[in-house]
Amino acid sequence: MIKLSNDSLDTSQNRVCALLGIELPVIEGGLAYVGNGLLAAAVSEGGGFGQIGCAGRTVDNFEREIVIASQKTNKPFGVNLPISAHSDYTPYFEIVRRHKSRIKAVSFGGGNPAPYIQLVKEIGLIVMVVISTPVQAAKAEAFGADIVICEGYEAGGHNGKAELTSFTLIPQIARAVSIPIVAAGGVCDARGFVASLVLGADGVQMGTRFVATTECEAHTNYKELLTEAKGESTTVISRHIKGPLRVYKNEYAQRVMEIERQNWDKTENVLPFIKGTKNKTAAIDGVVGSGYIAAGQVASLIDHIESASEIVRRMSIEAAEILQSFHRA
Ligand SMILES: Cc1cc2nc3c(=O)[nH]c(=O)nc-3n(C[C@H](O)[C@H](O)[C@H](O)COP(=O)(O)O)c2cc1C
Repeated sequence: MIKLSNDSLDTSQNRVCALLGIELPVIEGGLAYVGNGLLAAAVSEGGGFGQIGCAGRTVDNFEREIVIASQKTNKPFGVNLPISAHSDYTPYFEIVRRHKSRIKAVSFGGGNPAPYIQLVKEIGLIVMVVISTPVQAAKAEAFGADIVICEGYEAGGHNGKAELTSFTLIPQIARAVSIPIVAAGGVCDARGFVASLVLGADGVQMGTRFVATTECEAHTNYKELLTEAKGESTTVISRHIKGPLRVYKNEYAQRVMEIERQNWDKTENVLPFIKGTKNKTAAIDGVVGSGYIAAGQVASLIDHIESASEIVRRMSIEAAEILQSFHRA
């Protein structure tokens, strides 16, 4: 629950804020290759909850980013472990255990986290699970998740196979579980934040918006491309290969779509074009024509690169203004 108090947001009764120890229930989603420590710290400094992703990171690199975040902020932050990004998670859990005094929560995306949930709880951390259907949400709750992150089909990166959009997904999840719900997919500002709360969420998670920030380690070419996006600038590849993957509709994505069309019965011919490293080419090296670029539909609403702390702070102020305008109406 979020209330207005003296024209500011009062989040003292908000379940996500209480669990994570934060001021505003705005979470930075796991961002393969580009969810770095500086960005996580900036989100947390702004009052939200930053996360360091392990996808696209070696164990050493993952630890280095956790150390950077710890040095840059005293506020809580978390880590994202997407299932299937690595073949063996044992060394990543060792890092989580080693830094458990600084890591507040672990989020799981992209697969079935059941085998890992109790492990994280034994370490003493909050468990957040990304889901995209009511059935998955109920299972996550039954397995002991503390928060579900319900991700709609608008979202950048891997989407759920059911392709449910946030507008219908959030109220369904609110009916399916009693644990706190964080809405992801299609949110980049205070309007999306307030709308998510109205639909039944306790908070929001943003991915694409946090890529286009000064602290994100994504290449400038990637960030600038996001600020130039229009409504039709994203598309979905890999639907029948590894599951839907929402990306920027650059020449590379269009080529992949054509290869998929011609090889609909030969998955092995398409897989090399959608491997994780094809994301790195654009995201880190900045060669935006030679790889796929994860981007959500919300890119069309992003028109400038700015500090992640500032984005979160402004969301709090503007959400209060929106709620005030409802009161006045
Ligand atoms: C560049 C990029 C990389 C992503 N990588 C991951 C990841 O490694 N793990 C994960 O759970 N989600 C990942 N996601 C999904 C985000 O965490 C988040 O849920 C999603 O971006 C929300 O939708 P939005 O893009 O509309 O904000 C990624 C999204 C983007 C845009």
